[in-house]
Amino acid sequence: MLIIKINILEKSQMKNILVKLVLISLSISGFYQTFSQTIPEEQISIRVDSVISLMTLEEKIGQLNQLSYGSGWGPTVKVQISSEYEEMIKLGEVGSFLNASGAELTHELQKMAVNESRMKIPLIFGLDVIHGFRTTFPVPIAEASTWEPNLVEKSASYQALEASSAGIHWTFSPMVDVARDPRWGRIVEGSGEDTYLGSLLSFARVKGYQGDLSNDNIISCAKHFAAYGGAEGGRDYNTVDISERTFRDIYLPPFKSAVDAGAETFMASFNEIGGIPSSGNKFLLTDILRKEWGFKGFVVSDWNSIGEMINHGFAENLKDAGRISINAGLDMDMESRAFTNHLFELVKENKVSEEVINESVRRILRIKFLLGLFDDPFKYCSKERETKNVMSEEVQNTALEVAKRSIVLLKNEESLLPLKKDLKKIAVIGPLADSKKDPLGAWSAFGNANDVVTVVEGLKKYVSNKTEILYSKGCEIEGESTDDFDDAIKIANESEVVILCLGERSDMTGEASNRSTLDIPGVQQKLVEEIYKTGKPIVVVLMNGRPLSIGWIDQNIPAIIEAWFLGIKSGDALAQVLFGDYNPSGKLPVTFPRTVGQVPIYYNHKNTGRPGNKRNHFTSQYLDLPLTPLYPFGYGLSYTKFDYSDLKLSNTKISDNEKLNISVKIKNTGDFDGEEVVQLFIRDLVASVTRPVKELKRFEKIFLKKDEEKVVNFVLSEEDLRFTGVDMKPVSEAGSFRVFVGTNSRDAIESEFELVK
Ligand code: NOJ
Repeated sequence: MLIIKINILEKSQMKNILVKLVLISLSISGFYQTFSQTIPEEQISIRVDSVISLMTLEEKIGQLNQLSYGSGWGPTVKVQISSEYEEMIKLGEVGSFLNASGAELTHELQKMAVNESRMKIPLIFGLDVIHGFRTTFPVPIAEASTWEPNLVEKSASYQALEASSAGIHWTFSPMVDVARDPRWGRIVEGSGEDTYLGSLLSFARVKGYQGDLSNDNIISCAKHFAAYGGAEGGRDYNTVDISERTFRDIYLPPFKSAVDAGAETFMASFNEIGGIPSSGNKFLLTDILRKEWGFKGFVVSDWNSIGEMINHGFAENLKDAGRISINAGLDMDMESRAFTNHLFELVKENKVSEEVINESVRRILRIKFLLGLFDDPFKYCSKERETKNVMSEEVQNTALEVAKRSIVLLKNEESLLPLKKDLKKIAVIGPLADSKKDPLGAWSAFGNANDVVTVVEGLKKYVSNKTEILYSKGCEIEGESTDDFDDAIKIANESEVVILCLGERSDMTGEASNRSTLDIPGVQQKLVEEIYKTGKPIVVVLMNGRPLSIGWIDQNIPAIIEAWFLGIKSGDALAQVLFGDYNPSGKLPVTFPRTVGQVPIYYNHKNTGRPGNKRNHFTSQYLDLPLTPLYPFGYGLSYTKFDYSDLKLSNTKISDNEKLNISVKIKNTGDFDGEEVVQLFIRDLVASVTRPVKELKRFEKIFLKKDEEKVVNFVLSEEDLRFTGVDMKPVSEAGSFRVFVGTNSRDAIESEFELVK
């Protein structure tokens, strides 16, 4: 009887009954445990498959669809959900939202998905938590200047704590694109120009966000896969055309490092590489990412990057673009609708196999299981956690700790810094001195300008009650007006010292914010020249998202601080450094060119057949510029001094399975306790493919009390000497290597060893 009844039920009704039965049995079997990360992968995969077996093709395609909630670009806490979206959620046509946040809103959307859609599959909410959710931390390039992976991990974990308390499961971070061109606005979002430093920080950020995937963690997304930072001319979205060797040796390792750290998602980049747009690049998304590296998570497109393959001239129309992407290995479509609009038809036409779709759905559901969302779809939407964790004291204190450690001291002639706290009058001048908005930097999610402590506000908190802080804006960041110069000159004349805060607006870096010059914008250069004429001692504080060319300032101003955009604790962090409560320890993660004409300029360049030589015209150089940059990679001063000596190698030769111990003695010979980043570079002198003049291989940040000395030890092995060989496989070759240990990529002591085979 029962069998007959089932036969006459519609196929979809049967599936409905099965869905209920399976969901009941999954919870009876205890599968939906709170700590889902403890569930073995095999069990997850069984459960995922059992869910997939109940899904219609339309529902599967729905899981691959990500939409932006609200009015489009940018995060939203609450707006009226459109009837179109509501309908789509109920029909199971959307697997994820970006830009919807807040415990209340995400709860409402989730409720719709799990109560009103047939399959009851929870949504996953993604957001660009790039350097903080509400508590804005320093921008990523500033964090990279700490050279402290542990601290960067801690920062990411606090950002995750806040975001996860406000309904967010997934951040589109870290951006691990190596950037060698400061015209490119997105240099602010990454870790600078170096592959090794970038790889360690990539690892740290993934670990920090994801932790053990408890309630306080979020899933990370390594982006933009790949070589997005190699855009020609520094113009965002532009063509990338680099050799496979450079791709593998320079651009890919930070992504591999993200996989090693357990990154659960990747984002395909907008750009093409050698003629193939990433969103349709099978070699990248399948061969390298999954086959070579064993990545198990899912790949999301960038915003409409599938659709943009039409403009690239790589797809005829959106349907064609969808076909190319899914077959290349891209799993989730952010906002192009190529998948929802066309995959069904493509399957029916046998242009995409249903198994390819099943595989993508599998990857996405796996992560929903991992996050524990099938067990408790609302676990991230708790008003109570939101109130407790967002802007908590603990998170803010961490933001301050990171901010002060991100600051790089570029110049300090005659120890002008640190300043005394009992000076009578300090003039604080410049368009960034009291800016509330700019220290938030680009991509600050729910960062709020009212939370920012400006330099003026910060200094006031730290000075003695005898000290007066005078403030004048001087000029705008951009624009031609010099009307306020007189006021600025007047307060400079009245004061014992001038702190001049110059730089860029926060939106002058970030997505699409490229510049063709690295000069300080507007009339700020004129302002500094006018203030210089007062003869007062000047400290220039730079706030910017990219290296700037500040040749005149470097020549004429005694003290210079690179602050980047330090987030809400800007003023506190800078006051602590200016007054010596904290001795700066940051180092540049990127080379500072003298002028934009030197770009691209990076420390790990090749030697060429005619290395630059000012005494020989026919060498690789510019007629009108020195050979060197303004500040080299790894550069940064302290209020104290460090002497390097006794560089010792445990052996002059090592073989493949031996280790080389390298030790160096560092002594604090200055007047303050302080921290130093000890950096180790190598150069492979002769190889079957040419090698860079220097490559960072190790570093360590150490603390030394005044007069203290320490021996720092590093260990290298054959693995550290590998590169992509002639056959595109990693190889190390017998021969001589130079080792450089020093305070930056330029100033170092050297030795040599040999790898024997
Ligand atoms: C475009 C950006 O390239 C990417 O970094 C970001 O995550 C997405 N938009 C989502 O906002």
